[in-house]
Amino acid sequence: MCGIVAYVGHRDAAPLILKGLKRLEYRGYDSAGIALLNGALNVYKKKGKVKDLEEAIAHETLQSTIGIGHTRWATHGEPNDRNAHPHYSASKNLAIIHNGIIENYSSIKKNLIKKGHEFHSDTDSEVFVHFIEDIQINAGCTLEEAVRLAMKEVVGAYAIVVMDATNPTQLIAARKGSPLVIGVGEKEFFFASDATPIIEYTHEMIYLNDYEIAVVRDGELTVKNIDNALQSPYIQTVELELEAIEKGGYEHFMLKEIFEQPRSVADCLRGRVNADNGHLVLGGLREYTDKLAKAKRIVIVACGTSWHAGLVAEYLFEELARINVEVEYASEFRYRNPIIKEGDFVIAISQSGETADTLAAIELAKSKGATIIGVCNVVGSSIPRATHAGAYTHAGPEIGVASTKAFTAQVIVLTQMAIAVARKKGSLHEDTFRRLLFELERIPHKIETVLQSDGKIKEIAEKFKDARNFIYLGRGYNFPVALEGALKLKEISYIHAEGYPAAEMKHGPIALIDAEMPVVFIATKDSSYDKVVSNIQEVKARKGQVIAIVTEGDKLIPTMADYVVEIPAMHEALIPLVSVIPLQLLSYHIAVMRGCNVDQPRNLAKSVTVE
Ligand code: F6R
Repeated sequence: MCGIVAYVGHRDAAPLILKGLKRLEYRGYDSAGIALLNGALNVYKKKGKVKDLEEAIAHETLQSTIGIGHTRWATHGEPNDRNAHPHYSASKNLAIIHNGIIENYSSIKKNLIKKGHEFHSDTDSEVFVHFIEDIQINAGCTLEEAVRLAMKEVVGAYAIVVMDATNPTQLIAARKGSPLVIGVGEKEFFFASDATPIIEYTHEMIYLNDYEIAVVRDGELTVKNIDNALQSPYIQTVELELEAIEKGGYEHFMLKEIFEQPRSVADCLRGRVNADNGHLVLGGLREYTDKLAKAKRIVIVACGTSWHAGLVAEYLFEELARINVEVEYASEFRYRNPIIKEGDFVIAISQSGETADTLAAIELAKSKGATIIGVCNVVGSSIPRATHAGAYTHAGPEIGVASTKAFTAQVIVLTQMAIAVARKKGSLHEDTFRRLLFELERIPHKIETVLQSDGKIKEIAEKFKDARNFIYLGRGYNFPVALEGALKLKEISYIHAEGYPAAEMKHGPIALIDAEMPVVFIATKDSSYDKVVSNIQEVKARKGQVIAIVTEGDKLIPTMADYVVEIPAMHEALIPLVSVIPLQLLSYHIAVMRGCNVDQPRNLAKSVTVE
């Protein structure tokens, strides 16, 4: 989704903002722009990448110690130069950058047009800045007051930063529903959609809350709420290292993140699990484990890959803790009239912590009396702040748009939750509890082992890089992995792929199978093994090409499958943490071989902050 970077202080703003926008590229965008006070309030913007903008403005004198910059992911109006941000107000004294959607923009626009306003883009954001200026002129008030009054009128979600030609040390920012972080330096301030553009200058940050307005003027910051009451913002030290947001020698962020998984999974276990003394504690859920153990029902809400992690959790909670679980797409849940009763638990899973549908599902469930538990990666993001309790996944920044290490981190947290709740409930035998802890501690090493098959997986990718379709099949714990494998392939290589429960194939997808169809089976030694072997035979009988992910030492499936990748043996409940790794690598290599932009696939955004 759109990215915001703004700066006011003593540094040269343009290079700082352009570099910051590049750090936000991973969010997904189609145009970029910057506004500076260099002589006048000048806006430079361009369809395409930040480097296209840089080339277009290379000949300009961009000296300014204040500026705002934006990467736009189109919502209202097609991606082009006109619709790119920043947008001017009518007088051109103000410029705005805006993330989010103003739902009532067309009625505001109609009124402004009646008053003689002319618009130069199709965006809701341009309407917002015209509206702010119109209020300022009519009410004869300060810009800060005009922003506050405008916030009372607009409906929707936004993070904005407004710059004023008549006030060269001032930036005004506001937020409702879209993330905005303020970096606090020595007489300098940074604004951004997340911490990544700020971290090389300061670790001291403020996460603006909904309905708050931040004003920096003459090197001083004040934060007020929408009722004009002064706030005391909490300045937190963000523990993020620059290396974590750089490629570190890898060709792509996605590859780096796939290979980081032994570390990210270990980070997620550290201090939480100790098999030697039977210790399993998720700090943020200490008080809630008891309550969860008594829950009659858990509803999981999430989107995309996080939803797949939720499906794994369904199997875990039902099998280990014997609690009824329903997994819902947040986008569907929020628009139904879901039956949620007081006493129900809702687990919201999100890497970014900003997904608009998941956030809305949380608010709905909260309003119906549910207790909300968050499983999120980005510390301080909106979802963890909206929940009653939760556990962070500690995977570190995930920059590649296709989620990899966030998935395994989510699954490992959910696994720990399910085991802890099952233990509390008494539904887990001591031996199984100990064995699961013992095996959990060995997962990083097992992932490491699978990563050594990278060369082999690359060879398989070479054979199938030109395929037009793929089917992914798995049963039990490996069914969500099949869905995840198919999603990874389609989003970064643009090959059509479907994931199915292996047995469901007979009810339709089997009609697609011929000699041209690659079928990926996740066929590990588990309780469904014999059934999956039969499914492989069904595919081979129709001449499908089988790529099988099998358990080390399997002698049978290699006699049937065309290609085999082995993973180490482990407890069935933990298999998704490892069986997903070869699928991530397969999709990565296929996408690279097809010349796709792996880290920023077309049309996709890293955090989907609009519904
Ligand atoms: C797929 C992917 C998306 C996200 C989905 C939810 O690789 O990244 O499907 O999983 O947009 O995002 P979060 O987890 O940030 O709520």
